[in-house]
Amino acid sequence: MKEKHNTHPVMDAHVLIFPLPLQGPINSMLKLAELLCLRQINVTVVITQHIQRRLFDSSAIQTYMETNYGGAFRFESIPDGLSEEHPRTIREFSALLASLSAVAPPILQQMVSVREISCIVAEGIFSFASDIAGEIGVPLFYFDTYSACALWANMCLPQLIQAGELPFKDDNLDETIRNAPGMEGIIRRRDLPSLCRGIDLEDPEIKLLLKQAHLMPLSQGIILNTFHQLDSSLLSHMFKLFPNIYAIGPLHTLLQTQTSQNTSSSILPEDRSCISWLDKQPSKSVVYVSIGSLALMTKDQFLEFWYGLVNSGSRFLLVQRPGSVAGLDDGIPEELLEGAGGRGCVVSWAPQQEVLDHRAVGGFLTHCGWNSILESVVAGKPMICWPHHFDQQVNSRYVGEVWKVGLDMKDSCDRVVVEKMVREVMELRKNEFLERARQQSEAARSSVGEGGSSAKDLDRLIDDIKNMKLLPKHH
Ligand code: UDX
Repeated sequence: MKEKHNTHPVMDAHVLIFPLPLQGPINSMLKLAELLCLRQINVTVVITQHIQRRLFDSSAIQTYMETNYGGAFRFESIPDGLSEEHPRTIREFSALLASLSAVAPPILQQMVSVREISCIVAEGIFSFASDIAGEIGVPLFYFDTYSACALWANMCLPQLIQAGELPFKDDNLDETIRNAPGMEGIIRRRDLPSLCRGIDLEDPEIKLLLKQAHLMPLSQGIILNTFHQLDSSLLSHMFKLFPNIYAIGPLHTLLQTQTSQNTSSSILPEDRSCISWLDKQPSKSVVYVSIGSLALMTKDQFLEFWYGLVNSGSRFLLVQRPGSVAGLDDGIPEELLEGAGGRGCVVSWAPQQEVLDHRAVGGFLTHCGWNSILESVVAGKPMICWPHHFDQQVNSRYVGEVWKVGLDMKDSCDRVVVEKMVREVMELRKNEFLERARQQSEAARSSVGEGGSSAKDLDRLIDDIKNMKLLPKHH
């Protein structure tokens, strides 16, 4: 029987949470916020006005207003400094980060002082949070909502540069990386975070990552959305740099063990028609295809995926997020849909967790955003990886080579490869992949269950936060 925590009015620990304004990080940080509220900690989640509008339009914000955790949970919104019309796509991510880093610090500093915040939880990339924490004398936890493998690759950047492995000396992306402890023999140049390709050491984003590598170890602790069994070998290296790691993932599953309240953090309205379509499909017969909230495709790339899927003979559920495929704004042409012979279903945004948990889904063709991977792990669904940007290149390598729960098609986008990989995961090696995915799902679930490593790390985090205000304030 699950222990459900009461949502009683709250004691006086108060955490300010500041996520990156992207779907994946928002999901993770909101789950953490809810877990804290359930243990009588006040939480203020600071989101940008743009994200607030999207949560409002998708009706997600209402679910938080209704739940509210006895008044312990609140949103605050701040400007991101960009105009309302600014597209804020992946191409403008640097501009968003730069603008937010300029606008947010004074507002956050004011909030922390006025609200008597006992600690800050900020996304790892926000190095300015260290300045705020240091200036006001409030403890800071960095929560890197990406994977542990991506964080570790970022942490190794200074030594990769020092050892001359970065920038790459030639075009051979298959060269293995030697100066990332724990990743030797696993990571090739092509598996490093996407920014490493054609790296310019003067690029502001690289400078930010190097600053992050310097500042994160100085924080009070590092929160990660992973679990010990999944990343045990990497964590043993990470502990040397960060003695205080809280590995509390998969957060969405940990939250499910502690409350039956149902909140949604989706920034796009979900089309639930795909669930009734799935209900009519045979067990484990459908490949679910989604490239997440930010990744973009050209029309040619989309067509390679489409024909690869159709030629594989598999059934598929495809998310075509509005604006994600240049030149297909009016949807998928009728003749393509007809060519799929009723085996394909297309929606603009799906209730992804529910889809992955559905008995009809047998595999996930994913861009390898960290939330998507964790949701697939918990659902026990093998993956076919088409990484797009940031951490996704490292994540997909771990899916294919370390956890062995899928195949990595990195750097290729060809209908023949898509067809071959779908056949392999859905037919030829189906049992092998499903069995490994089942074992991993069990490990994930037991880590959040009673006495599991993530449940224990969450207890420790909560104790530390509650005791923090008793400490003399210093950073
Ligand atoms: C961002 C970054 O780009 C990525 O590199 C990082 O790993 C996470 O954050 P994003 O596209 O938001 O990527 O990916 P992901 O972390 O997978 O989050 C997407 C979320 O949207 C998932 O929780 C997923 O359940 C949800 N989703 C996706 C839906 O609810 N419906 C969909 O149709 C597609």
